[in-house]
Amino acid sequence: MKILIIGSKGQLGTELTQCFARGNTELGIPALLRAKNEVRGADLDELDISDLQAVRRFFDGAQYDCVVNCAAYTDVNGCESHPDIALKANALGPRNLALACVETGAKLVHVSTDYVFSGDGNVPYLEFDRCDPKSVYGKSKLFGEEYVRALCPRSFIVRTAWLYGYHGKNFVKTIVRAARERGGLRVVDDQRGNPTNAADLAHHVIKLCASEEYGVYHATGSGECSWYEFACEIVARFGISAKVSPCTTEEYPTPAKRPAYSSLRNLMLECTVGDEFRDWREALSAYAERCQREGLL
Ligand SMILES: NC(=O)c1ccc[n+]([C@@H]2O[C@H](COP(=O)([O-])OP(=O)(O)OC[C@H]3O[C@@H](n4cnc5c(N)ncnc54)[C@H](OP(=O)(O)O)[C@@H]3O)[C@@H](O)[C@H]2O)c1
Repeated sequence: MKILIIGSKGQLGTELTQCFARGNTELGIPALLRAKNEVRGADLDELDISDLQAVRRFFDGAQYDCVVNCAAYTDVNGCESHPDIALKANALGPRNLALACVETGAKLVHVSTDYVFSGDGNVPYLEFDRCDPKSVYGKSKLFGEEYVRALCPRSFIVRTAWLYGYHGKNFVKTIVRAARERGGLRVVDDQRGNPTNAADLAHHVIKLCASEEYGVYHATGSGECSWYEFACEIVARFGISAKVSPCTTEEYPTPAKRPAYSSLRNLMLECTVGDEFRDWREALSAYAERCQREGLL
């Protein structure tokens, strides 16, 4: 297949690029990686997806079979103060990619977020549940989803959550550094979700690229926890002796409102290409081992 990865320098984009280059994922060898693929990556320094003419020029004559959109403005607090940047990258960008995919006959895998939900519930959200985002980030990502769904029938919307990869900034790296430097930290215990290793997500994205089972997918690590429980596990897996204490969202206010409960159930994966996500603790353990083995963190 001829594949284009947009946002190729981000956490997920880098992981996907490396999986295609290696011919495997941390979870195995999806059928697509047994075949010969031509993979091209692009990031903001080469293509701004919010510019439709630039997107059309970029696609001109290339004939991709599948486009994976990992690009987004992911600074959740930054989105509150810069809604225009959020809407351009997270709503207009996917719209432009959806148009270009339809015009050139490519499938589109578009990555979205648990923050499209309000977080007011207490059972894991299904793909069929109503979206009601509370933050600018969540709203901009929902607009992106809606454009993709309306404009590109051969598309997958893949909602993930609490993502951490080997490349780029994420919660795991922030906690490891803070715990090493400060020896103690407070982390919110009243927001629950699903930590997701980017390697596990890449595995499922690659399986979807080869499928025709279009639709909305939840794709998150198995099991749920609070940020505090996640931080305790991070400190333990990285062998750091630091005191982690729980606090409330009220005690740690942020510009963007986060969902209190945004756990997702991967029902559509279960029903189609299979849900192979590892338990979040196991996936974190594998991440910590590789980081330590390769001196990444
Ligand atoms: N990180 C999480 O915890 C999380 C949770 C749920 C869902 N997601 C979703 O998962 C996907 C991948 O996230 P990630 O953590 O891998 O993101 P990331 O590391 O922030 O990477 C996103 C990439 O997109 C690029 N980009 C931003 N605006 C662009 C534009 N207008 N045109 C082209 N490229 C642009 C960024 O470039 P610059 O760095 O130069 O700005 C960056 O390289 C996103 O759709 C995100 O919304 C992430």
